[in-house]
Amino acid sequence: MSDSAAIPSKVSRPKRMTVPAIQKMKTQGSRITMLTAYDYTMARLLDQSGVDMLLVGDSMAMVVQGHDNTLPVTLDEMIYHAEMVGRGAERALVVVDLPFPINHQGIHQTVVAAGRILKETRCQSVKLEGGADQANVINALVMAGIPVMAHVGLRPQTVHTMGGYRIQRDRDQLIADATAAEQAGAFSIVLECVPPELAKEISELLRIPTIGIGAGPHCDGQVLVSHDMLGLNCGGYVPSFVKAYADLESSIREATQNYCSEVRTGKFPEI
Ligand code: KIV
Repeated sequence: MSDSAAIPSKVSRPKRMTVPAIQKMKTQGSRITMLTAYDYTMARLLDQSGVDMLLVGDSMAMVVQGHDNTLPVTLDEMIYHAEMVGRGAERALVVVDLPFPINHQGIHQTVVAAGRILKETRCQSVKLEGGADQANVINALVMAGIPVMAHVGLRPQTVHTMGGYRIQRDRDQLIADATAAEQAGAFSIVLECVPPELAKEISELLRIPTIGIGAGPHCDGQVLVSHDMLGLNCGGYVPSFVKAYADLESSIREATQNYCSEVRTGKFPEI
């Protein structure tokens, strides 16, 4: 067999979502879908199910590592998981969170950290918490060719300053943050726990897509933590805005109980 005969003439691959493709969805009025993923299997499943963007979120600290908040996860841990997600995602644009407090350590450190993410994983962009206060950092990353998603409203990395997770209602601050992020070159922006009417106003004001979480129906897209969306919380706190589309926790418990029972009674494995 010749070499050319061994290579399939057409490998059918889904068309990759890109930064311009995500931005075009806003101009076309197509709602953008985004979910978190932290490993290969889940990334592959969500990707093959048609989600537009995958977020390797620092929520991993809570739902994967079992911490109380997002602060403990490290850059090396984010990169380790982003690599797995990058291998699993063929179509979705993958966004990786900059973990606390990378983007507060100065422009140079942030570019080095974000550069590592793009070099060492197959992921295409980063997300950082911040708006007006992070405009110079966003701009430096964008100038280095690193697409940035900003994140304003509730910023989980500032949990200790906020004294908990609360809806953010300061209209002037939110508009200043969102417009500064856009002007600095962010390709998109997460609005977390913002009143729906304010999220609508910001979404109409900005040219870049807004991705809402707990921010009502008027954003250009929505993101959820996949464990919440799939009903996989092990009794942990689930925000009231979450909708669970499955009850995987019950399925896993039931399957595990059946397996244990069949092993104990000798029903599995069969002879
Ligand atoms: O880390 C994360 O999962 C996030 C989403 C909640 C937007 O930042």
